[in-house]
Amino acid sequence: MTTVSLTVNGKAVSANVDPRTLLVQLLRENLRLTGTHVGCDTSQCGACVVHLDGKAVKSCTTLAVAVDGASVTTIEGLAHDGTLHPMQEAFREHHGLQCGFCTPGMIMAAVDMVNRRGHQLDEKTIREDLDGNICRCTGYHNIVKAIAAGAEAMGKGAAPVRQAAE
Ligand code: FES
Ligand code: FES
Repeated sequence: MTTVSLTVNGKAVSANVDPRTLLVQLLRENLRLTGTHVGCDTSQCGACVVHLDGKAVKSCTTLAVAVDGASVTTIEGLAHDGTLHPMQEAFREHHGLQCGFCTPGMIMAAVDMVNRRGHQLDEKTIREDLDGNICRCTGYHNIVKAIAAGAEAMGKGAAPVRQAAE
């Protein structure tokens, strides 16, 4: 077993893990943060997307030992003091989900998209950038609308995602 120490959603945590443990297992099984989902386990669907040092990664293909000392944000870390992150609010407002299974990964990927590509995102840009995230329910139309609205709302003053230990 190996000890992994990292910051998750602003809190310092550590866990003893098998060296083969994946980041998504560390989050779901050791830390009980079950908002991060596993849809395929082969880096296809994006249900497992989290932010690693501020950038989106697929946690189903990231080793837990590789994130020692890093800062991870999961879907549980986006809301602040009971207020949804603007991207979460936009998904709710525009009905960007049906079963919700893909939604945590979609939202984490969407926030990363805004961080990389800015607050004015057209439909083509969103659809292209979202190619690593699969939804089996919605047909994507409302997801695209939600991301465009969430991106704009983030530009009007979203709280930054926490990175440092509290
Ligand atoms: S579970 Fe990670 S990409 Fe599907
Ligand atoms: S809302 Fe069901 S998989 Fe996307």
